[in-house]
Amino acid sequence: MKVALPLLFATAATAWNFDNERNREPIKLSMWHQQKAVSPLGTQFKVSTPLANPLGGSLRFVENSGVCETTPGVFQASGYADLNANQSMWFWFFEARNNASTAPLSIWLNGGPGSSSMIGLFQEHGPCRITNDSRSVTLNPNSWNEASHMLYIDQPVGVGYSHGTLAVTGSLAAAKAVYQLLQIFFADPTFSKYTTDSFALWTESYGGHYGPAFAHYFEQQNAIVDAGQGNGLVKINLKTLGIGNGLTDPLSQYPEYVNFALNNGYVQTTTTAAITRANTSLWSSNGCITQINNCAATLASSTCSSAQSFCNNNVLSPLAGSRNVYDVRTTSSAYPPDITTFLRNTTMMKLIGAESTWTETNNNVYSNFQSTGDWMKSSSPDLAAVVDSGVRTHIFAGDADYICNCFGVEAMLKSLPSKLQSSFNAQAFSNFTVNGVHAGLFKNAGTLSYLRVAAAGHEVPAYGTTGLQVGQAALVMFKQVMQGLSISSA
Ligand SMILES: *[C@@H]1O[C@H](CO)[C@@H](O)[C@H](O)[C@H]1NC(C)=O
Ligand SMILES: *[C@@H]1O[C@H](CO)[C@@H](O)[C@H](O)[C@H]1NC(C)=O
Ligand SMILES: *[C@@H]1O[C@H](CO)[C@@H](O)[C@H](O)[C@H]1NC(C)=O
Ligand SMILES: *[C@@H]1O[C@H](CO)[C@@H](O)[C@H](O)[C@H]1NC(C)=O
Ligand SMILES: *[C@@H]1O[C@H](CO)[C@@H](O)[C@H](O)[C@H]1NC(C)=O
Ligand SMILES: *[C@@H]1O[C@H](CO)[C@@H](O)[C@H](O)[C@H]1NC(C)=O
Repeated sequence: MKVALPLLFATAATAWNFDNERNREPIKLSMWHQQKAVSPLGTQFKVSTPLANPLGGSLRFVENSGVCETTPGVFQASGYADLNANQSMWFWFFEARNNASTAPLSIWLNGGPGSSSMIGLFQEHGPCRITNDSRSVTLNPNSWNEASHMLYIDQPVGVGYSHGTLAVTGSLAAAKAVYQLLQIFFADPTFSKYTTDSFALWTESYGGHYGPAFAHYFEQQNAIVDAGQGNGLVKINLKTLGIGNGLTDPLSQYPEYVNFALNNGYVQTTTTAAITRANTSLWSSNGCITQINNCAATLASSTCSSAQSFCNNNVLSPLAGSRNVYDVRTTSSAYPPDITTFLRNTTMMKLIGAESTWTETNNNVYSNFQSTGDWMKSSSPDLAAVVDSGVRTHIFAGDADYICNCFGVEAMLKSLPSKLQSSFNAQAFSNFTVNGVHAGLFKNAGTLSYLRVAAAGHEVPAYGTTGLQVGQAALVMFKQVMQGLSISSA
């Protein structure tokens, strides 16, 4: 949920009720598609034909723009999956820097809801990182494409460089649209060779909802394909789910705002009086916890949406005090550096094929999710189902993040209704040491692992510490998980 603060507490929700299925009829390569072969800025796209994709849509992209990934010989492509005439979803693909023929494929999603995955690309773990003056980028030695092909997606439609009719108001609908993007992507001759690679979904923040919902939906679709009823759908070879600083289960996570405000190990975030007041709002009759329980009991949009407003206005927001909600160690929001100027540079946009004005967060997308109360609906059942299906699942949290803090994430895991729950809870924390430097605490239980990353804020790979480069510990973690290993010191 990388959002400007006031947005978190927006209450003016429009009660839209889009029929997301309406846009799902197969679209043949037609006039609208030909018209999109050249971007408004004059980029000439390579255009695929929508062969063998039962959900319709098509792909257009530019290859090897020279932007960001400058390692010789590493393929990249950026452009749009057109879901239909009115909805274009932005993607940016980087081939793995090493062993490309055998590397797995990972998709990356930032949160919000409504925030662009260019945040992850340029501030966290992409092949290049934004410089502190926000003017340029430098090659990132700790990029996650050291170990995997990376596919960054701006979703849902309306977010970042994606554009078109806003139709998504919750995590399940978002999953369906990204599933369509993947079907279009794998149907394209340029990318079909990645279909059989191990597939990983990595996400953060509101990704505590997206990750479980998307992975569970992909598995349900895979079951349809396995039953021979896919009509040409490609199976998603899902092996790994990774979630950083996620909001998954409000019932277990909201009480931890109080504990984290008091005992985070860095600084008490606000006055004791303010903490007492927020704690009263949390536990009083008709308070935040009661409202979250009412949401869970009814799943009614209005109930869940009201719970979101109440809990964020009376618990989450006041407990942050004047601290940066993404890093309690500071009150400044200067880091990670803003990427807006860079992503609005029209010379750069023409090179990569971008065709709409980039914003970090689309407030209308956020409001649409708020209108259904999706935020307050627990994704723990989906997460448990994914864990129990055998998908390697790695949960992590920077220990300085307030907004989806490690205490809350750990409380969520403790109550996760998975088969691994008791063995996970029986584990003690071990120290995570990287090159002799203390870099966190971890627990493993079978295919489930957790890492509390030391000295990191909300965007974990954006941080380093004395003796460790920015993103170095995060890359060690990513590599271990992508190799199918439990977390261990390295
Ligand atoms: C796209 O938008 C046009 C104009 O608003 C509309 O007529 C058409 O039905 C829309 N198509 C889809 C697939 O939503
Ligand atoms: C490439 O793959 C080989 C064989 O699996 C492995 O030994 C090597 O470490 C890999 N190289 C890199 C840089 O990951
Ligand atoms: C960028 O800013 C961060 C946070 O203020 C600082 O830790 C880091 O050293 C700076 N990087 C460079 C290259 O100046
Ligand atoms: C918050 O309220 C609960 C329930 O009344 C109480 O048990 C707890 O001690 C309070 N915590 C703080 C920090 O005030
Ligand atoms: C815009 O991007 C181009 C191409 O990368 C670069 O040469 C130019 O300096 C950038 N302009 C600004 C104002 O940053
Ligand atoms: C972890 O490291 C700390 C020092 O950073 C040390 O005090 C503690 O004993 C270690 N814990 C374990 C389980 O090794």
